[in-house]
Amino acid sequence: MSTSGQVAQAARRLLLSLLLFVAWETGSGQVRYSVPEEAKHGTFVGRIAQDLGLELADLVPRLFRVASKGRSDLLEVNLQNGILFVNSRIDREELCGRSAECSLHLEVIVDRPLQVFHVEVEVKDINDNAPVFSLREQKLLISETMALDTHFSLEGAADEDVGANAVLNYRLSPNEYFSLEVPSNDEQVKPLELVLRKPLDREVDSELLLVLRATDGGKPELTGTTELHITVLDVNDNAPVFDKAVYRVKLLENSRNSTLVIRPNASDLDDGSNSHILYSFAKDVSPVTKASFRIDSDTGEIKVNGKIDFEEMKLWKLHIEAVDKGHPPMFGHCTILIEVLDINDNAPELHVKSLSPSVAEDALLGTVIALISVSDRDSGANGQVTCSLSPHVPFKLVSTFKNYYSLVLDRTWCRSLLGGSIE
Ligand SMILES: *[C@@H]1O[C@H](CO)[C@@H](O)[C@H](O)[C@H]1NC(C)=O
Ligand SMILES: *[C@@H]1O[C@H](CO)[C@@H](O)[C@H](O)[C@H]1NC(C)=O
Repeated sequence: MSTSGQVAQAARRLLLSLLLFVAWETGSGQVRYSVPEEAKHGTFVGRIAQDLGLELADLVPRLFRVASKGRSDLLEVNLQNGILFVNSRIDREELCGRSAECSLHLEVIVDRPLQVFHVEVEVKDINDNAPVFSLREQKLLISETMALDTHFSLEGAADEDVGANAVLNYRLSPNEYFSLEVPSNDEQVKPLELVLRKPLDREVDSELLLVLRATDGGKPELTGTTELHITVLDVNDNAPVFDKAVYRVKLLENSRNSTLVIRPNASDLDDGSNSHILYSFAKDVSPVTKASFRIDSDTGEIKVNGKIDFEEMKLWKLHIEAVDKGHPPMFGHCTILIEVLDINDNAPELHVKSLSPSVAEDALLGTVIALISVSDRDSGANGQVTCSLSPHVPFKLVSTFKNYYSLVLDRTWCRSLLGGSIE
């Protein structure tokens, strides 16, 4: 190769690098556009040819083309009018994830002379994602004796958008028991919490259903919800209560063994074993009571167990205890008054006290021969006794006092009439 040839080649190389330098120079005055994500096909982005200083007529002859890293089909240039437009749907979250900045980098190349331009197209977030809770419902089990101000952590929501579109506000459905504690934005590590504001009572509300709502800061705002199912756990805070403090019942004496006397009924507002009741006689019940009656520990039924005798006991007073199976157990008490009804099971009894072993034949009328008392262990009409003498005897009964009589001489003594007796 001749020296002159070498010189010519070096000159050409210099020219080329100068040209390239110019091209880079032009490219450094970067053009920037922005387009909202999700924009429709054909949405105008920018007059790219004009903004890069290219003649429309040159685009085709100079082989105008656009290259971009990754997805190259998202934007396109109309070679007739030099306009950059949206070709297919751009999903910002797919393109850039959750990073605050998101843009497409375009490399625009033309030949003759070779020029390379760099164009940035910023993809702006629109509020196209609602806050999402990973759980549709969250279950919480809380004891009814849980202290006020206790905190329970909750799963928060996530929003795929960025900036204001992803700033979440939480609200809890109106309720009297819980409020929400939301960590401020610079405390993102702290969980969302439910705070107990009013004592729970399983006997009033055993299940609570709250709705937690997250709203983002976009315009228009989008919301997501999750349900909070709260089960209030029972503690043994209720004693068994009898439906009466005193039960009154009447029972015939001599009632047969196993006759049902009464069934006192206690109930307990608690749940499960905390409301399971056992019945028994109270500790102070006498052995005589236990011999006469028995109680079924499951049903509370009180039945006759021994002999019920009116003449021995007219009124029974039974103290009954109900105890639940909680830990510790709770007690309830009642009293049962059993009035025993008399039946006529006792015959009248006569006591005769003779004053003198014999009566003189000339004894005066009205002479008291004997003192008689009658009694009957039954009561009421069953215990009322009438006394009479057999007819045709020379005596009469004179009542001296209730159930006391005197047998007195009524007629002149006559031996032949002897044989009259007292009935
Ligand atoms: C006992 O009382 C409870 C509550 O008042 C009631 O539901 C139940 O039916 C009663 N049982 C009987 C056997 O009376
Ligand atoms: C009454 O019946 C119960 C149960 O059948 C029995 O245990 C009890 O001994 C009986 N009482 C008398 C006095 O027979």
